[in-house]
Parts: sequence; C-alpha cells; structure tokens
Amino acid sequence: MTQSHPRISKAVIPAAGLGTRFLPATKATPKEMLPVVDKPAIQYVVEEAAAAGLDDVLMVTGRNKRPLEDHFDRNYELESALGRKGDAARLAKVQESSDLATMHYVRQGDPKGLGHAVLCAAPHVGDEPFAVLLGDDLIDPRDPLLRRMIEVQERHGGSVVALMEVAPEQIHLYGCAAVEATTDSDVVRVSGLVEKPDAADAPSHYAVIGRYVLDPAVFGILRKTEPGRGGEIQLTDALQQLAADETVGGPVHGVVFKGRRYDTGDRGDYLRAIVRLACEREDLGPDFRTWLRRYVTEEMQQP
Ligand code: UTP
Repeated sequence: MTQSHPRISKAVIPAAGLGTRFLPATKATPKEMLPVVDKPAIQYVVEEAAAAGLDDVLMVTGRNKRPLEDHFDRNYELESALGRKGDAARLAKVQESSDLATMHYVRQGDPKGLGHAVLCAAPHVGDEPFAVLLGDDLIDPRDPLLRRMIEVQERHGGSVVALMEVAPEQIHLYGCAAVEATTDSDVVRVSGLVEKPDAADAPSHYAVIGRYVLDPAVFGILRKTEPGRGGEIQLTDALQQLAADETVGGPVHGVVFKGRRYDTGDRGDYLRAIVRLACEREDLGPDFRTWLRRYVTEEMQQP
C-alpha cells in the first residue's frame, strides 16, 4: 500500500565510539578520520548521505571531535594559500567536504552505546523519519543502498534496516534479523532482531549493517531501553521492540544488500577498502595495480 509520508531529509551519523579496535591510531583521532586512500572514511559517508538527497546531516561526536568538525568546515588559510599558488585542483579538494551538506553536531557525553548516540539526535530530528549512517561503515559509492532504503520506507512507512548475508561463523559480530519474504526480491519483513547471537541461536544469516531509516517512534523506545549487551544501550534492542509491535512505529523492513561494504573500524576490512578503492581509482589505480600484481606473485612464490 502506498502511503504519504514526509520526505526524508535528515541524516544522523554516529561517530562517538571509542574505536578501541584501532588503537593506538585512535588515541587522539576519531577512527572516522582515518584516510581511505586520500579521504577520511567519514567523508565517503557524508557523500553517500548527500547523494541520497539528505542535505541535513547531524553528526554525533564524542571526545576528539575537533578534527571531524574542522574537516567539514572551511579552511580559509589553506584555501588562500592554494589560491595564491593557482592550484585549482587541490583547492577544489579542500572545498569539496565543506560544500556537501548542512552540517550539525551534537555531543554524546559518554559513549553509552549506539542506541544512546541515536537518542542524542532526537531534539534535532523531531517527529519525522530519518536516516542513520554509521560513521565507520563504508558502502562502496558504486553500490547505492540508502536510496533504495528510502524508497522502501516511503512505500511501507515504519523503519527499514540494511541487511547483508554473512557466514554463520560471522553472525556473532552483528545484529541478526528474523525475516519473512516479500514480493520484492531484495526486501524482507523483519519480525525480530537479536544483537550478536551465537551461530546456534541466530534466527537467520542476515546481519544488520550500518544503514537505517527510522521512524521517530524509536526515540520513545530508546528513552526506556535499559543497557543491554556490553552494558551499552543497543539500537538493536529498540528495533526489536519496533519489530515486535508495529502499532508503535509501523513495520520494520529490511533491504538485502549484495554490494561492497567495509567496516573501516576493523583493521582487516580497512586495509581491504583501501586496496580495492585504490585499484579502481583512475589516477592511482594503474600504477598501484601493477605493483600489487607483482607483489602478490612474489608472495605466492614464497615457501
Ligand atoms: P562500534 O561498535 O564500532 O564501537 O560502533 P566503537 O566504540 O566505535 O569501536 P570499537 O569496537 O571500540 O573499536 C559502531 C558505530 O556507532 C558509533 C561508533 O562511532 C560507530 O560509528 N557509536 C558507538 C557511537 O557513536 N556512540 C557509542 O556510544 C557507541
């Protein structure tokens, strides 16, 4: 059934986690600022929001928030130095990140979990559906996901999560969804969610990844959600309540994503993201691929 909903225009980007998996790099720098080739991971995420038509971005920051704010602000000193040199290409690169969207910031005092970070966005978001993009989750720009999720939300109302099929031995790293098929092959109805289950208890192979389109009813639930796994207020627990009772905030659907996605907070995935994106870059790719091919061949000859 097609319903009428307010157009989604706001994106919330939680970027206040401690990033302990990436210490010591993240001791004084947010993990979202680590470069993927030559852009900080967070810039890809803001570019993705802007490409999906979300021009109002609220970033939830924590300690060490300065580099994040500075990156999306103007840098007049650098701009005038490049301008004086006539270096238009680099000047454009400096200005790119400050022209993407209207940026807002809110501080999450204590990193009490992703659910708590999302709750910090409530006064800014108000009573309209909104998108959440995790600042350390990179979706390859060639595999658009968010636009499809917004389409599904506009069609069904309620909330939409992004799902990816993972191997059973990986499911304990993610939130996992119990699902029912719909008439769209890439869309499922979510009937339940559990955070980081053991493989034996997992209701499916569908892992929740870092993109959400949420009904504002989630805020009321988060206000009452007690800390769950790891002592953190879990977004998955609030989504489970939405899925269990659709009279609260409408149904929960899942869009099954088959594209390329990297968890840049995980060192292995971070390296894979850099290699893949560097290989495909027009400027760096040809030389880098030649080197990589030679390197891999040499490695394979090692005993
Ligand atoms: P992670 O689960 O990756 O946790 O958070 P983390 O603390 O950032 O990293 P590790 O596990 O210690 O290495 C997923 C997303 O939720 C945000 C993070 O910034 C990341 O984008 N987050 C998490 C918050 O904004 N606040 C929190 O309290 C927790």
